[in-house]
Amino acid sequence: MSTPPAGKLALPELSAMKRRGEKIVMVTAYDMPGARFAEDAGIDMILVGDSAAMVVLGYEGTTVPVTMEEMLILTRTVARAAYRPIVVGDMPFGSYQVSDEEAVRNAVRFVKEARADMVKLEGAGPMLSRVRAIVDAGIPAVGHIGLTPQTATALGGFRTQGKSAEAALRLVEDAVALEAAGASLLVLEAVPGPVAREVTRRLAIPTIGIGAGADCDGQVLVYHDLLGLSEGHLPRFVKRYANLSRDIRDALEAYAAEVRAGTFPGREHQYTMDDDERAAFEEAASARVAR
Ligand code: KIV
Repeated sequence: MSTPPAGKLALPELSAMKRRGEKIVMVTAYDMPGARFAEDAGIDMILVGDSAAMVVLGYEGTTVPVTMEEMLILTRTVARAAYRPIVVGDMPFGSYQVSDEEAVRNAVRFVKEARADMVKLEGAGPMLSRVRAIVDAGIPAVGHIGLTPQTATALGGFRTQGKSAEAALRLVEDAVALEAAGASLLVLEAVPGPVAREVTRRLAIPTIGIGAGADCDGQVLVYHDLLGLSEGHLPRFVKRYANLSRDIRDALEAYAAEVRAGTFPGREHQYTMDDDERAAFEEAASARVAR
């Protein structure tokens, strides 16, 4: 990997934050305004999540259909706009499951074409060798276990993972194995707090929780969920910090009503001409029409 530009949060700083007990703040973003807002808010990491499938691209209830090309465009857009935050490109379903070689090829595209700083991939087990191969190629990797949306069907739907002692122990083992495979960070999604606490205690690398309680080293939320841009059912772990969909609807309705009533644009939104130019124009125009 090349040296990060001055001002970019350096990757080793994340582990240092864990050691100092400083929380790492991550949010998803998919476009330039989102990246700029995150940067201005002092967010440490931006995940260009494959949740884009659902919150941006209109694939209903699943992240599976989003393609490499779609993820590369979104990631490149965010990377262009974000300066200090570390940008993580989320590898879409199908881009790393087939072989280590294909996983590396696609991870390279995230870094080379989309300028991501790291890539994220879901799962452990067979995915451990993918993580190892990507890291060996010089690309920092983020693991993701617990609820893994790309394989939600196999997990029985979008539901909490690791609720039995046996399943919880498997999660701890997977987390340890991902760290050993070279992951620099681990996302824990929808797992009970005590399980996340134990994983966080065992690992030297930081854990980032989403629905995993307060003991993780950092937190991530989906941009549209926390800003109130998502509609319909939201998981219990989401906290809404704004209600932007209400504000946007109100604004669009007001705009439509004003256009229909002829009250927009007002005089203050129009361009004017000097009086003599206007008079000359009106005279010439009426003479031409009269001809
Ligand atoms: O795609 C995404 O937004 C994610 C987060 C929910 C962690 O993977």
